[in-house]
Amino acid sequence: MALYSEKVMDHFKNPRNVGIIEDADGIGEVGNAKCGDIMKMYIKVKDGILVDVKFETFGCGSAIASSSMATEMIKGKPLSEALSLTNKAVAEALDGLPAYKMHCSVLAEQAVQSAILDYYRKNNIPYDPAQFKCAHCAHDEDEDE
Ligand code: FES
Repeated sequence: MALYSEKVMDHFKNPRNVGIIEDADGIGEVGNAKCGDIMKMYIKVKDGILVDVKFETFGCGSAIASSSMATEMIKGKPLSEALSLTNKAVAEALDGLPAYKMHCSVLAEQAVQSAILDYYRKNNIPYDPAQFKCAHCAHDEDEDE
């Protein structure tokens, strides 16, 4: 059995929504201290809808595939829906990831949440911290690694 599904390989080789949004409404950057991979997510929001999403990922193939899939899953969706995106859902949409690569999908979940949190903060929009289940977002931005 192949280690990676066809979907993982497809999103790794032809990632969707790669790049930067110059006038992004929110930017989230997360990293995994162990593997050193970094993911940056840019969002554009209009009337509570994610009208555009782009990402840059400096990391492994699974991280690239996960971020690509995550952007496809949240683009055009309301913020509330994007906030409930789980790494499991991303991994499932990719037809699975090897167990030791599941943390790559966690990065995607955290990057989405971090970008939305940035948007809320920049626009002084009240939010419920409980919506942000990722530990990274639950802490202050200036938290040390
Ligand atoms: Fe760490 Fe993939 S190996 S994000």
